[in-house]
Amino acid sequence: MKAALVIHSKTGTTLAFGKAIEQALQKEGIETELFLLEFDSPHGEDPFSEEKDVILKDIPDCLPYDCILAGSPVWAFSPTPVIRAFLRKAKGLSGKRFYPFITMGLPFKGWGGTRALRAMESIARTKGAVSFKGEAVMKRGRNLEKQMQSAAEGIAKRIKNNA
Ligand SMILES: Cc1cc2nc3c(=O)[nH]c(=O)nc-3n(C[C@H](O)[C@H](O)[C@H](O)COP(=O)(O)O)c2cc1C
Repeated sequence: MKAALVIHSKTGTTLAFGKAIEQALQKEGIETELFLLEFDSPHGEDPFSEEKDVILKDIPDCLPYDCILAGSPVWAFSPTPVIRAFLRKAKGLSGKRFYPFITMGLPFKGWGGTRALRAMESIARTKGAVSFKGEAVMKRGRNLEKQMQSAAEGIAKRIKNNA
């Protein structure tokens, strides 16, 4: 089995979570490739909300993979416009198993995390992907590293077991 992890991360937290997931997948014997999205926007380094302002430098092709994982920070209770732009433009998502993952600042998944995961699943489904339960980690009031480790092991096991 081959999995692609496609990630947007502004300050590195979502990338760290993606790397923990990648390691856990490899421990389960799953081949992985990690793509960190790069883009231009009229807003420079500032966060923004409109997908139309995202000019992706590269759009990873999903065709060679059995399973696609997409990672995003939560921005204003949503996935970032960068990961949304990737999902809308991605080729080869049809029929693929799709797992979203997010990182967020607020302490409860219900405060934007669940909504962001669902939004990613919903776009992936419009591209013909079959979506599975994603994972969220929260920064405030928790041990982030422990959360990442446990969520990474959980998602890797589910991917291995087709669940
Ligand atoms: C513009 C902006 C909006 C954000 N909105 C939310 C939010 O709605 N809910 C939340 O829990 N965290 C929010 N955060 C915090 C980020 O989701 C969190 O810090 C995340 O881990 C950053 O990921 P990164 O390091 O991969 O960029 C926001 C951060 C930024 C910059």
